[in-house]
Amino acid sequence: MSLYSEKVMDHFKHPRNVGVIENADGVGEVGNAKCGDIMKMYIKVENDILVDVKFETFGCGSAIASSSMATEMIKGKPISEALTLTNKAVAEALDGLPAYKMHCSVLAEQAVQAAILDYYRRNNIAYDPAQFKDALCAHEHDGHDSDGEDE
Ligand code: FES
Repeated sequence: MSLYSEKVMDHFKHPRNVGVIENADGVGEVGNAKCGDIMKMYIKVENDILVDVKFETFGCGSAIASSSMATEMIKGKPISEALTLTNKAVAEALDGLPAYKMHCSVLAEQAVQAAILDYYRRNNIAYDPAQFKDALCAHEHDGHDSDGEDE
């Protein structure tokens, strides 16, 4: 039995929506400080709908498969729905990921949130920070849990 599902392998070998959106309405970049992998998500928004989504992932196969699946799950959907996307839903849509690879799907959830947050900030749209806690965490703490007590 293979460690990875057929869907993971399919999305890894043939990732959907890879690339850059020129003049994107929002761009989110997140990374995992431990493995060093980076994911960048681009969104195009019209009337609150994500009319286009693309990604670039410099990372492992599970991260590539997760970002590919995440773009498929949110493309054409309202922003409000994309914001409810969880890494668990992404992993389930891929027919599962090994437990030690679940963090790779977290990057996809954070990248989607970060791109939407960027869109909101660029357009001065009011937002509830609680909805973006994962993306804000990924950005502002960069995966560290230092409490800054040195020096
Ligand atoms: Fe880092 Fe998969 S090992 S995202």
